[in-house]
Amino acid sequence: MSAPTNRSLARPTDDAPHVDSAQLLSVLAEISRIGARTGAGITRTGLGPEEAQARAYLAERYRREGLAARTDPAGNLIVRRREADPAKPVLLLGSHVDTVVHGGRLDGTYGVVAACEVVRVLARQGMESAYEPVAVAFSNEEGARFPYPFFGSLGLTGQLDIACATTMTDRDGTALSTALRAAGGDLDMIEAAAWPDGSIAGYLELHIEQGPVLEDRNIPIGVVEAITGRTIIDITVQGVQGHAGTTPMSLRRDALVAAAQVVLAVQRLATTRGLCAVSTVGCLDGEPNVTNVIPGMVRLTAEIRDGRAERLRAAERALVAELSALGSATGTRIDMDLRPVTRPTQTDHRLREAVATAADDLGLTHLEMFSGAGHDAQIVARSAPIGMVFVPSRGGISHAPQEHTDDDLLVAGADTLLHAALRLVTERW
Ligand code: GLV
Ligand code: MN
Ligand code: MN
Repeated sequence: MSAPTNRSLARPTDDAPHVDSAQLLSVLAEISRIGARTGAGITRTGLGPEEAQARAYLAERYRREGLAARTDPAGNLIVRRREADPAKPVLLLGSHVDTVVHGGRLDGTYGVVAACEVVRVLARQGMESAYEPVAVAFSNEEGARFPYPFFGSLGLTGQLDIACATTMTDRDGTALSTALRAAGGDLDMIEAAAWPDGSIAGYLELHIEQGPVLEDRNIPIGVVEAITGRTIIDITVQGVQGHAGTTPMSLRRDALVAAAQVVLAVQRLATTRGLCAVSTVGCLDGEPNVTNVIPGMVRLTAEIRDGRAERLRAAERALVAELSALGSATGTRIDMDLRPVTRPTQTDHRLREAVATAADDLGLTHLEMFSGAGHDAQIVARSAPIGMVFVPSRGGISHAPQEHTDDDLLVAGADTLLHAALRLVTERW
């Protein structure tokens, strides 16, 4: 358990159901070993062996608890009651178990473990329900190795671009299809991963906030109102490789010098130009990357986020215009390839209300808030109403080894998910 805090999150002593806090925390602790690197967080990138191992661990664990667990062709783990009626619409609960490189132990994984625990508790209750609670661990949400984020949720909702997936490789040239097969999926069967229209009644995702808002205000539960949109642009700067000792400065067409200006242009979109909420270059690769050689080529990514689709588009247009001019000014060629936009997404008022009421029932204060992080929920939103629950992140840190949430808050979030799910599965809405 973490050090005591000045919060009071005592659980009510009534006979209302609760998650098994010891089991929640022990499953989280055990799964955190998979992909752990000493002193460097967790690297469990999507469609790789560690993600598959995390799925296998959960499948085994929850089969022992009497639940059914299977991996679908998109590499998603699905956990449900063995006796579940396949015709009953589903209340889907989940998140992802892949991580970024050197990531934390809670991003995604917390929501999956809590979802499995909630399905386990509800299965034991054996009550009549209008909807079947099912837990899911979506594959490759982050896109850290194969740049196809939300792969699993796109597959489950029938939105995958199969042609794009078929040609995709990681940086070492391994095909996505090969990695997926090794991880228990199958790109040739991917259409079978898509659930029929109408089969998902709603989707609820519990996640750490990954930002500072809840902690700053000392509020244990966030009720997400909307999730940010995101555009990713793959950029290639083509210069001329040459000798670092003999090529006069005036004759150089240095790809890295041009790329440095691209990085600053991306940063200015959100800072001095105020065109979007945040903008980042997270990935930059130069060639040949040798001390005494003028770089001939640089590949980098620009990532732009905002809660409003029209602002995303405007920022994207502004960047394209600026980089076209920059290519001419630096004597380089700058190519830009826009990946499909993830749209800003609203949550559904019925799921928001279920979360807020659950928190009230548990005596937990809550706050309606915006998510600056992307989530599988916004992919599922095209098929079904969605909701999200947040718990605070210490120091607002995430996508880093230091990511942390105190145990009592993790338990409070899981109990909120359970109570919201109980309400949502028993009442037709
Ligand atoms: C999801 O991990 C994101 O990058 O927002
Ligand atoms: Mn993440
Ligand atoms: Mn996440």
